[in-house]
Amino acid sequence: MNFVPVLIISLILLIITILLAIADKLLVSYGECKITVRKDDEVHEFTVEGGSFLLSDLTANKIDITSSCAGKASCGYCKVRLLSGGGSILPTEEIFMSREEKTSGMRLACQVKIKDDLEIHIPDFLTTVRGIVKNKTYDPKLRWRFIKSDHEDGFVQKGITKLSRKEQENVEEIIAKYEGVPGAIVPVLQSIGGRFNYLPEPVLRYTARAMGKHMSELYRIATFYNAFSLEPRGQNTIKVCLGTACYVKGGEKILNTIRRKLNLQNGNTTRDMKFTVEIVSCIGCCGQSPVLSVNNEIYGYLKPSMIDNILTRYDTEVQNGKDKA
Ligand code: FES
Ligand code: FES
Repeated sequence: MNFVPVLIISLILLIITILLAIADKLLVSYGECKITVRKDDEVHEFTVEGGSFLLSDLTANKIDITSSCAGKASCGYCKVRLLSGGGSILPTEEIFMSREEKTSGMRLACQVKIKDDLEIHIPDFLTTVRGIVKNKTYDPKLRWRFIKSDHEDGFVQKGITKLSRKEQENVEEIIAKYEGVPGAIVPVLQSIGGRFNYLPEPVLRYTARAMGKHMSELYRIATFYNAFSLEPRGQNTIKVCLGTACYVKGGEKILNTIRRKLNLQNGNTTRDMKFTVEIVSCIGCCGQSPVLSVNNEIYGYLKPSMIDNILTRYDTEVQNGKDKA
């Protein structure tokens, strides 16, 4: 096949595109445009010379907006909702939007050329990520990890949905303890995890506001470290080791037995919230493999027949704890 004509046509198209872009820049003037940005409860206003792209103007005006493709319209993270101005959605944006998002004026900031005054709302990043999960445009090669559940948008909804006054005070106490400490987010999240047994979304939102951070920053850390869970954990955490030594001695059989006994078909936490099962790659007791731990108590030289006894022990403890409460 002769590629020369194709190359020539591509070259001509490229030259025309470049010439049009230059002409647009030199000949068309959009004048000064006012940008009004609504984010969380704040409103920012600034003016820019029209003809630029919204993403770069937001960044230049220190308005935090997530982008991992640097404006190439390939990540879908830079979503904003246009409240007024901005023209219609481009084909490059459509693939990132659900029907609902399109009708509500959602756009990719990197694709919106400023030609007139704009009023926009920037959703918090978690909302954007939810949209990505829902639209199935999530890229599994990226580091983000989403919690799947039966809930329609793929996020776990059980657990705390609203903070009580007492819980707000708890969070404020934790934040006050780390005030002025560099890199305080991780210890703050650890303490919150210790207090609530996981990181409830409303608590993360409250913490972000109280610490003057963006929710996306906290969420990024919360999803990066395995020690943090965004899903409510059971009262007892069972860690089953599937490291090499435990695996060759039947660790997987132990895991399957536990999952069967606890009736864990989807997810890792039992419906009654008594147990959460996690897989780990070494507990440091390889000589006793296969090994598991329950709330940091180690059980070694395991056989599937021993699982009932171990579970009953903690189930009874949970019951006793409840009776005492
Ligand atoms: S910055 Fe990636 S799609 Fe806009
Ligand atoms: S491999 Fe299981 S404890 Fe080390």
